[in-house]
Amino acid sequence: MMQGPGLEVGLEAGKAFLKERSPLGPLRIMFKHVGRFFQIPLFFFHPFLVAGPEAVRKVLVTEQQKVAWRNPDPVTDLLRQGVLVMDGEEHDRYRRLMEPAVARLALPGFSGLMLRQTERVMAQWQNGQTVDMLVEGRKIALLIVLEALFGVDGWDDLPRIWTPILKAIEYISPGAWIFWRKIPRLGYKKHLKTLDDYLYGIIRSRRAVAYPSNDLLQHLINAGLNDELIRDQMLTMLIAGHDTSTALLAWVFVLLGQNPATHARLVSELDAAEPDAPPRLLDDVIKESLRLYPPIHIGNRMVKEDIHFAGGIVPAGERLFYSIYLTQRDPQSWEQPDDFCPERFSQGFKQPPFAYIPFGGGPRACIGAAFGQAEARIVIASLLRSFTFEPSNAGAIHAHMGATLEPRPGVLMRVKRRGFVGK
Ligand code: HEM
Repeated sequence: MMQGPGLEVGLEAGKAFLKERSPLGPLRIMFKHVGRFFQIPLFFFHPFLVAGPEAVRKVLVTEQQKVAWRNPDPVTDLLRQGVLVMDGEEHDRYRRLMEPAVARLALPGFSGLMLRQTERVMAQWQNGQTVDMLVEGRKIALLIVLEALFGVDGWDDLPRIWTPILKAIEYISPGAWIFWRKIPRLGYKKHLKTLDDYLYGIIRSRRAVAYPSNDLLQHLINAGLNDELIRDQMLTMLIAGHDTSTALLAWVFVLLGQNPATHARLVSELDAAEPDAPPRLLDDVIKESLRLYPPIHIGNRMVKEDIHFAGGIVPAGERLFYSIYLTQRDPQSWEQPDDFCPERFSQGFKQPPFAYIPFGGGPRACIGAAFGQAEARIVIASLLRSFTFEPSNAGAIHAHMGATLEPRPGVLMRVKRRGFVGK
């Protein structure tokens, strides 16, 4: 049954959209007035949206066999047979192949390169310069994924792949294609081919050497996958593994800029801590940033069999979103849900299961969750130990719904070298 908003709610949602310049505002209004189950009333597109721990548990765990990940969207055109857009046995096979390469056990092997790539990007900064942390974070995240997963030092490749990467992300981001799937997608072909050529080049070079490696690329090669399938998994991990971390890094700097007292306390706790034992507050800041601005703010499913939720039924054949953003700001699970309060995680507050889901959950939870969190800890600690960050545009930032939730127009920070030499 359709749960639509009334005229007043519609008007309030419209106002929120204009004020926040993001569909997140209207979604919050719908959530407040309509509830945890509604249909998004867009022209020619009426996906169902659910939020809240009970509904999320159904989508992710108890009734996950009733939904499919593979959808008719551009993400499927781009990633082809990539693990993210596959279902069933084929999905499970790719996932099993790649999981060990990014699992918790593999992480100690990455901390050195995570630090090194961060330092390399920082080394380009002039004292007193204003940098955009959305751009700098992306450089760091890309370099880390390329080296950790494919054994490639991407430094010299960045100029060649930068625009193609941004184009690939734009290609899969929400756009006019939502209303008209066949709309011509001009301006992508050349860039997507550059990206493909780049990945095929990496596969070729690796096949040509007896490389005693244990990285993700090698796992795929050793399993006997052909080049096309390897490209699909590589592109999936490259996009999913760096665009999310980019957004996380950028939001952390937005939030630190808006909360100078926490920022100052975090820097002094980092200075006092051993280099490889970051303070609890760093973890809490990362967690709170993931709660308020989850890089993946929504999970996208195609319904194969009717699903019954407390608010109504989503029939087979429909599109279903579960909202990570709304679930993590649900007042039934969180006190002062819209406030930045990193301490909530260390004050023993226990939110119900599935109230905090920045990495999804169940059998298709994020494969890189441990990797992404370790990366954020190492990168942010290193940045804050080396430079001071003074926000230049914190007030003007809005949450842009692209492939991830991104702070736009960017996160301008004036950086000054601290001269801190460590403990
Ligand atoms: C802060 C960093 C990250 C966040 C917030 C994040 C978030 C998520 C979320 C929410 C999902 C599930 C989406 C859904 O249920 O629809 C997911 C899946 C996935 N993530 Fe991440 N992710 C992060 C980092 C990474 C990294 C570093 C990698 C790779 C190295 C990665 C690779 C993937 C893949 C391949 C999937 C699909 C898994 C499957 O379907 O079996 N992610 N991620």
